[in-house]
Amino acid sequence: MTGTAAEPFPERKSRPKFRRADPADGIVWLTGASQGIGAALAHALVARGFTLALTARNEGALRALAAEFPGRAFAYPADVGSNEAMAQCYADILAAHGPIGTIIANAGIYRPLAAEAIDIAAFIECINVNLLGAARQIAPAARAMATRGRGHICVISSATGFGGMPTSSAYGASKAALINFAECLKIELDPLGIGVSLAVPGFVDTPAQETNDFPKPFMVSADDAARRIVEGMMAGKFEITFPRRFTWPLAAIYALPRSVYVTLVRRQTGWDKRPPSTSSGQD
Ligand SMILES: NC(=O)c1ccc[n+]([C@@H]2O[C@H](COP(=O)([O-])OP(=O)(O)OC[C@H]3O[C@@H](n4cnc5c(N)ncnc54)[C@H](OP(=O)(O)O)[C@@H]3O)[C@@H](O)[C@H]2O)c1
Repeated sequence: MTGTAAEPFPERKSRPKFRRADPADGIVWLTGASQGIGAALAHALVARGFTLALTARNEGALRALAAEFPGRAFAYPADVGSNEAMAQCYADILAAHGPIGTIIANAGIYRPLAAEAIDIAAFIECINVNLLGAARQIAPAARAMATRGRGHICVISSATGFGGMPTSSAYGASKAALINFAECLKIELDPLGIGVSLAVPGFVDTPAQETNDFPKPFMVSADDAARRIVEGMMAGKFEITFPRRFTWPLAAIYALPRSVYVTLVRRQTGWDKRPPSTSSGQD
């Protein structure tokens, strides 16, 4: 059976084995575009010849950003946490601009949660936006890309996804799942001619970091992060991790036995000196 609904990813002849993000593939659908890394990505992408469909909830910020690039960037406000909103957003972009060439799943939230006082609503929100939001964006586009035999998908995870960190149970779990998700996409979509990139940033100076008072070693600017991500996608890289002096040691200690990893992280973050009564968790 070929080309039927039962076989959504039909076999194609002579597809390239190795894909780079390419403006010629079609419009980029970028989520989390209203500020931070997403807004910086928009600038970096337009500078390299891409046309953009920008998604986030803050319609005013999206429209202001799109107005900087007339004819090259368009606002498509939506909540990545909603099945209906994301399906409608995808349909609207498709109708106006044709097939999506590149997906960047960047929308994300951080919710600090003390392990002894986990707020279930905040936990669900974090997974719903960070992980399921990416799935809502990628699922319809991956199907269409497979039929065309071209396209690129970039998943924005975090170095927190490499291993557990204090107060990061929900955020870290969502970002670890995104690493696994991107690996699955890479394994399965490569033979269909679709490129996959996984961005694993360390600390990036964005509004998301303004309320965090913990140390942020080797923090890079949002513009620097965006440049590294876009250049990595255009070079056809799978894993784009930066700054390496932060992410490589972290990945290396995670390769140690888990008990050693846990001890080292507890010591490194000062959590070994934490008095039992200082819980900052919500109840
Ligand atoms: N900053 C860092 O140190 C760092 C490090 C590693 C990874 N990351 C990841 O990089 C990505 C961007 O982070 P950032 O630092 O730029 O954060 P940010 O400044 O807080 O921006 C987050 C973006 O996500 C959007 N967003 C949040 N919830 C959304 C929802 N329900 N629906 C649609 N859009 C939503 C926000 O727009 P609206 O509020 O307008 O919806 C905003 O545009 C995130 O996935 C984050 O986890 C950040």
